[in-house]
Amino acid sequence: MNQDYSPLLSVSPSCSSQDDLDKDEEQSFSTSHTVVKRSAWRRRLEILAFLASLLINCVFFASHISNPSSKQLRFHDELMQPPAQSAIKYERRTFAKLGVLSKFHGPPTDETDEAWNSLYPVGISRVTKAEASKMANWTERIPGDDHYVISLDVFHQLHCLNLVRKALWPDRYGPQELGDPVLEDDDTPFDHVDHCVNIIRENIICNADTTPNVFQWSEEKNMIFPHFDSVHMCRNWESITEWVNEHQLLTPWNAKLRPSRLDTNSRI
Ligand SMILES: *[C@@H]1O[C@H](CO)[C@@H](O)[C@H](O)[C@H]1NC(C)=O
Repeated sequence: MNQDYSPLLSVSPSCSSQDDLDKDEEQSFSTSHTVVKRSAWRRRLEILAFLASLLINCVFFASHISNPSSKQLRFHDELMQPPAQSAIKYERRTFAKLGVLSKFHGPPTDETDEAWNSLYPVGISRVTKAEASKMANWTERIPGDDHYVISLDVFHQLHCLNLVRKALWPDRYGPQELGDPVLEDDDTPFDHVDHCVNIIRENIICNADTTPNVFQWSEEKNMIFPHFDSVHMCRNWESITEWVNEHQLLTPWNAKLRPSRLDTNSRI
């Protein structure tokens, strides 16, 4: 009996490949001559495999719950429930072909301005107390409203890209003016364009889109040509804009209105 089981025990419990199992079966079957004996052996093998997997699961589960860093991770995951989570849907989208111009391209006109501005008509949103309490951070309650203020980062990113675009055309948009220093102990004026370039950099790296672009021989150009019109897995944009439209502030945003500190629910 022990001999029957010995090949299985020598197999690494984490990942025994099909090849290993086949080999074990061959070895064992060469000494078994009847179908009955074969199926009985198989049954014992199944039971042992089941017990082994049960043991492995228990060990992994125990190490998982006793590991403080994994506990922290789970705690964090539970909190990380972005309010617009329900608006996230995925779809495949083909990016623009090199050289094909859209309404977002080219020297600025009233039409390009309109196209860019319409990408983020609603920059600031309001969420319920229940939604706000599931976020990873607290946010202010909107004065005169029982909702809380947030903005989805994608709209900040779009605003930033548009700002960089405008900086390229000072003749039309004027010079980008520097603002007041952000940090109290530093005199460096706030450079909005510089801030925006960095935000875009952080987002590109954060999302690290690994969609492969291909290089194909072009008979016309007589060279290998890169193609950027690849199909990407994207978030459905209409669904996101629908969400922000449904979560618009009831009154214009006024950052100078101090939230009442008497209201203990002001912060979550
Ligand atoms: C929460 O907000 C603070 C700024 O007050 C920020 O430094 C921190 O990274 C935020 N935490 C999370 C989880 O977003």
